Amino acid sequence: MPASVWLQAFLAVGLARAQTQNPNNTYSAPNDTSSSPLNNAESPPYYPSPWTEGSGDWAQAYVQAKAFVSQLTLLEKVNLTTGTGWQSEACVGTVGAIPRLNFDPLCMQDSPLGVRFADYVSAFPAGGTIAASWDRGEFYRRGYQMGQEHRAKGVDVQLGPVVGPLGRNPKGGRNWEGFSPDPVLSGIAVADTVRGIQDAGVIACTKHFIMNEQEHFRQPGDFEDFGFVDAVSSNIDDKTLHELYLWPFADAIRAGTGSIMCSYNKVNNSQVCQNSYLQNYILKGELGFQGFIMSDWDAQHSGVASTLAGLDMTMPGDTDFNSGQSFWGPNLTISILNGTVPEWRLDDAAVRIMAAYYYVGRDESIPVNFDSWQRDTYGYSHYFGKTGYRLINQHVDVRGDHFRSIRHTAAKSTVLLKNSGVLPLSGTEKWTAVFGNDAGDSAYGPNGFPDHGGNNGTLAMGWGSGTADFPYLVTPLDAIKSQVSGNGGVVTSVTDNWAYTQIQAMAVQASVALVFVNADSGEGYITVDGNTGDRNNLTIWQDGDTLIKNVSSLCNNTIVVIHSVGPVLVNSFYDSPNITAILWAGLPGQESGNAIADIIYGRENPGGKLPFTIGSNAAEYGPDLIYEPTNGHDSPQDNFEEGVFIDYRAFDKQNITPIYEFGFGLSYTTFEYSNIKVVKVPAGAYTPTSGQTIAAPTLGNYSTDPADYQWPANLTRPSTYIFPYLNSTDLVTASQDPEYGLNYTWPAGATDGSPQARIPAGGAPGGNPQLWDVLFSVEATITNNGTIPGEEVVQLYLSLGGPEDPKIVLRGFDRLSIQPGQSATFHADVTRRDVSNWDVASQNWVISSYKKTVYVAASSRKLVLTAGLDLGDYAS
Ligand SMILES: *[C@@H]1O[C@H](CO)[C@@H](O)[C@H](O)[C@H]1NC(C)=O
Ligand SMILES: *[C@@H]1O[C@H](CO)[C@@H](O)[C@H](O)[C@H]1NC(C)=O
Ligand SMILES: *[C@@H]1O[C@H](CO)[C@@H](O)[C@H](O)[C@H]1NC(C)=O
Ligand SMILES: *[C@@H]1O[C@H](CO)[C@@H](O)[C@H](O)[C@H]1NC(C)=O
Ligand SMILES: *[C@@H]1O[C@H](CO)[C@@H](O)[C@H](O)[C@H]1NC(C)=O
Ligand SMILES: *[C@@H]1O[C@H](CO)[C@@H](O)[C@H](O)[C@H]1NC(C)=O
Ligand SMILES: *[C@@H]1O[C@H](CO)[C@@H](O)[C@H](O)[C@H]1NC(C)=O
Ligand SMILES: *[C@@H]1O[C@H](CO)[C@@H](O)[C@H](O)[C@H]1NC(C)=O
Ligand SMILES: *[C@@H]1O[C@H](CO)[C@@H](O)[C@H](O)[C@H]1NC(C)=O
Ligand SMILES: *[C@@H]1O[C@H](CO)[C@@H](O)[C@H](O)[C@H]1NC(C)=O
Repeated sequence: MPASVWLQAFLAVGLARAQTQNPNNTYSAPNDTSSSPLNNAESPPYYPSPWTEGSGDWAQAYVQAKAFVSQLTLLEKVNLTTGTGWQSEACVGTVGAIPRLNFDPLCMQDSPLGVRFADYVSAFPAGGTIAASWDRGEFYRRGYQMGQEHRAKGVDVQLGPVVGPLGRNPKGGRNWEGFSPDPVLSGIAVADTVRGIQDAGVIACTKHFIMNEQEHFRQPGDFEDFGFVDAVSSNIDDKTLHELYLWPFADAIRAGTGSIMCSYNKVNNSQVCQNSYLQNYILKGELGFQGFIMSDWDAQHSGVASTLAGLDMTMPGDTDFNSGQSFWGPNLTISILNGTVPEWRLDDAAVRIMAAYYYVGRDESIPVNFDSWQRDTYGYSHYFGKTGYRLINQHVDVRGDHFRSIRHTAAKSTVLLKNSGVLPLSGTEKWTAVFGNDAGDSAYGPNGFPDHGGNNGTLAMGWGSGTADFPYLVTPLDAIKSQVSGNGGVVTSVTDNWAYTQIQAMAVQASVALVFVNADSGEGYITVDGNTGDRNNLTIWQDGDTLIKNVSSLCNNTIVVIHSVGPVLVNSFYDSPNITAILWAGLPGQESGNAIADIIYGRENPGGKLPFTIGSNAAEYGPDLIYEPTNGHDSPQDNFEEGVFIDYRAFDKQNITPIYEFGFGLSYTTFEYSNIKVVKVPAGAYTPTSGQTIAAPTLGNYSTDPADYQWPANLTRPSTYIFPYLNSTDLVTASQDPEYGLNYTWPAGATDGSPQARIPAGGAPGGNPQLWDVLFSVEATITNNGTIPGEEVVQLYLSLGGPEDPKIVLRGFDRLSIQPGQSATFHADVTRRDVSNWDVASQNWVISSYKKTVYVAASSRKLVLTAGLDLGDYAS
């Protein structure tokens, strides 16, 4: 659409910005019939909030949850849903207990790569690193081991894995916490991680739902240079939502994720945690999510509006950290008593929380034995309130032998980008020279910066809440020294990137130079080297390009190792003849050095492939992040106009040749692809789900007399602690809300608990089960034609053929281990979902009549084998 229409559309939004309590809170797109990607960029109201019915494999958990919740009083149900406030208890988030039933309060703890704020835990490779292994077994095992560690510390909900951000722009600060900007790679990784975590008996919290693609302005807040700025709004159309950003969430739900975290940002100008379209219609309706939605920390901005729009748990429970006030707690109690929220909605929230609890077997859990805020053995159990002195840290070592697989996983996730034949090294090189701050220890120790918000020494995780403390960090320099000295060789190092004289003196002597460089990013509440969470650029940090140049201009055997949160620009050095090898090692976790040495010295044959594209400038990736307000104090409008064209799809569309493409990675052996076979599998026609739900169950009675909900006389309240009780029998007084009783017109249907029509694209957790019907089975022969064993990540891409479709989309992969001279069969199934597009009009998946092609590929640009897909009757 022309620029002027754009402007009008978004000006209108600015003016119509809804009050926080407004449950409609919706942005309607202009009546635009063009194929603009932002057509249908709206969040229409959808009520009532769907109640869980125990569908899919949730039946047993649902029955148990209903039985449990049926015994609860209103105050006890409120307790289950409301956090007790920031730093009020041992975990980063804790809801109220149910002492009457000896039910311990549920503990939510970061992070997606290990137990945050605890000792004697493992630091696993980051999500964006393990994605490079393209290995389902690794995804599952890492999830399982992280789950075991959380469980042994007494955690009920691990706040991970991450598929939002997906990685729309590589500068996004938290991309590394997630997996890949490709929805299918992310979807498979998140599903296996969820299964792993939950098989270990801990509830996974898949986050951040949704389109939390940048750190700048993610929350409404005050920014030093700009004053108050409202939360950024990610404006997106329905088709892109389904085909890109929602895809991995659907996989997580299908895998049984017990909880989902709603994000800080707005979508189509509606705060996600009160966006009825996204929570009621999409998550709980279409995707049949049976677990509970919890808010990101202070991402809730309303009481009744968020309750009716499907939020089930508020975290950490207070309106702002330690305000002592809550949108829920007493307000939730009141909203039931004054009839604004129907009881079934609270019952449903409680049942969802308890269903997740039983679904993963939390009823056999152990109490929390650590404290997030203090490492002392004895201290206050209510850290903020400074009361309840007791044993708080039992210092339980929960690591088991996870270090072994952490090392192996990190090696499997390492990507060999260039090799002129020098790798693997024999270890008997005459003089090994190691360069770079990124090779060695931090001057401050491995955990020297709070939440890892600093870059000094080798980089093995990003910064922010998505971190854990290292039990130790094996640096590349440690591991290389041990290797070379063990062989009686010479190994020296310079870890100051600016010590030019020493660097040059050493480079001229070296038989092999190993240069370690990095690029970091993290969560927006910490700024490192001027980067407020999001990266300011894609170049290597700490003058790494100069370091590489200084070494490689004097040494014709320079190997570069990159530790980074995502793509970095390699233009200045990648094609130099003196750069004999390049490795991307991501953020490998505690065994970093051992893992890279395993690859460099050939104990492991590299098999990782890039989970993103490395281009030659930031603009090639599409729209930039928004770093400055664009709308005064109102929400910056982030229009996802590029639609589904991010990462390799953007490069393909613009016909830009990347330096290293998505899916690319070398091995010390070589592979040959042959003999593609496509077999059509009989499957019936697609039947949209129909029929009606049951009526909303109401579990138990409650008194409407406010006198029954008053503070117990004998209860001492730790400072700012959130309880469900009222401090007055007058509800207006108890609410302490200046807007109490304001005549909001709640949307029609919001309180309707009668049976509701089922959603055609829904029907089970993840969506209509027929979307997973297999329509084709694809096979190919992969031969290792080298001389050593190796592993090859074979990829399956599809071309859906339509004028609005990407050139190709990833739809499957397998990592095959093949002996030299041997062949293996690659197999992948193509499901109905894989060949479908989202149709906005019918609100369902449809198979277009465009000609479809399947590719068995070594990367997104090496589409080695091709075959047509005869959709026949399946197509519309
Ligand atoms: C919400 O939408 C309904 C119609 O769906 C309308 O009647 C009501 O006034 C709206 N409420 C607010 C607060 O805008
Ligand atoms: C947009 O479409 C709606 C529904 O079709 C109609 O009621 C409304 O008048 C249209 N608005 C404009 C500005 O054309
Ligand atoms: C609610 O939770 C708090 C904190 O765990 C607890 O002290 C209180 O007794 C609980 N209230 C009820 C009614 O169970
Ligand atoms: C109830 O919620 C309102 C905001 O909607 C808040 O101002 C008030 O402090 C809350 N009351 C309590 C008792 O926390
Ligand atoms: C790391 O910290 C030490 C000690 O403060 C400092 O000398 C060094 O320059 C730092 N390195 C980098 C790369 O910032
Ligand atoms: C990019 O950011 C890094 C980290 O802050 C900085 O070291 C580097 O100088 C920046 N690069 C450019 C080209 O500005
Ligand atoms: C490569 O290294 C040699 C020293 O071995 C040096 O003479 C030459 O200039 C270097 N070439 C480049 C392109 O840096
Ligand atoms: C580097 O230069 C030396 C001396 O000219 C030569 O012997 C050696 O083969 C070169 N190494 C590489 C990797 O090109
Ligand atoms: C507080 O009083 C209630 C009701 O009398 C009683 O059930 C409860 O055990 C008391 N709690 C404490 C901590 O004394
Ligand atoms: C009911 O209680 C809630 C929570 O305090 C409040 O926000 C809402 O305005 C109240 N509604 C009415 C109609 O009094």
